[in-house]
Amino acid sequence: MSFVDVIAKKRDGHALAREDIDRFVSGVTAADIPDYQASALLMAIVLRGMSAEETSWLTDAMVRSGERVDLSEIPGIKVGKHSTGGVGDKVSIILAPLAAACGVVVPKMSGRGLGHTGGTLDKLESIPGYRTNLTIDEFKGVLRHVGTSIIGQSASLAPADKHLYALRDVTATVESIPLIAASVMSKKLAEGGNALVLDVKCGQGAFMRKQADATELARMLVAIGSGAGVRTEALITAMDAPLGRAVGNAVEVIECIEVLKGRGPEDLIALVTTLAARVLVLSGLSAEQEAGGAIARAVSSGAALERLRMLIEAQGGDARVIDEYGRLASAARRRAIAADRDGYVDALQADLIGRASMALGAGRQRVGDRIDHGAGILIVRKPGEAVRAGDTIVELVYNAEHGIETASALAQRAIRITPDAPVLPPLVLGRVA
Ligand code: URA
Repeated sequence: MSFVDVIAKKRDGHALAREDIDRFVSGVTAADIPDYQASALLMAIVLRGMSAEETSWLTDAMVRSGERVDLSEIPGIKVGKHSTGGVGDKVSIILAPLAAACGVVVPKMSGRGLGHTGGTLDKLESIPGYRTNLTIDEFKGVLRHVGTSIIGQSASLAPADKHLYALRDVTATVESIPLIAASVMSKKLAEGGNALVLDVKCGQGAFMRKQADATELARMLVAIGSGAGVRTEALITAMDAPLGRAVGNAVEVIECIEVLKGRGPEDLIALVTTLAARVLVLSGLSAEQEAGGAIARAVSSGAALERLRMLIEAQGGDARVIDEYGRLASAARRRAIAADRDGYVDALQADLIGRASMALGAGRQRVGDRIDHGAGILIVRKPGEAVRAGDTIVELVYNAEHGIETASALAQRAIRITPDAPVLPPLVLGRVA
């Protein structure tokens, strides 16, 4: 059967055989299947879906496209963490050093920006010198020395995801439960942890807008993890408005450092604390009721910030950014978007804010685009806060002029002001374990 026939099979709504899926993944990894055929099959999967069996074969083939790291020589239960993608979601950059400071080993393979959402790797690369492409030996060395390491997919770790992820980013093929599940879990199984905490985002700014879809994705992720011998649990969390007060790359790194200095926005601190507590509990190092105290002490003592410093240094970055934010990429220009009436911020629609940030240069439109690490959006008023006409709601920070009008229009559309204070959704909407 030619690969065109495999595409047609899925296009016509049939299940793929294991051999079809293996051929797809090995062909993509070896660059035997051209991007236009891979993209066509991805789109057919988005439109026709995949069964649980096809999804588990896809995940398995994607893990086997590279190695599965053996971390058995590092003592203790190693706990991974992953988010399905949101706007302003910088939790991993705070949680990984924080959990490491509490004694948990956190191996972490992250991704780049995907669709309108930001990527941990792009954010970390706004730190001069920070390397995300470590070899497996370097990854293990950093894990031993720091207690965490945050890297990207590579030629030896989840290479199929590296390629498919970049294609999906620019071909409108992200929003698919099987593709997200296989992408996330191929990285999580390859990185070598024994346990895993997942943050499945749900809402306007997430790939799953409805709670039923987020729950289905969470169940699929947990089933794949458990089936592979990794104790996995998922929290479903709200993603209607951006998390925290910064969206972009360098601006988000600054916010992470601020949280580790004991400052920073409440919603971000609450989510980091909730997820980090699950990491501590799954590691066996803390009982449920003690985890919050351990996390608070790791921040107030400066131990968590020190781990971030060690992580940046160990991966080749300039750790002076922790005290001197001016060493990070920056933006020369600013434009304020103001309230047009008195009232309360009722909505700050995260997908539109994510797209505005991309228009400013913080994300990619095509594979291989260079991103502007200094560009992004600062959120001055969050949903629930009172405003007067003329108050700044968000501030666009940018260098290149070409996207500013598009970004301004998107940011204006994202804002809704109402006369009465809105009822905000809870941060955690559900849990699958
Ligand atoms: N995160 C991933 O790693 N992959 C996806 O497809 C979505 C979020």
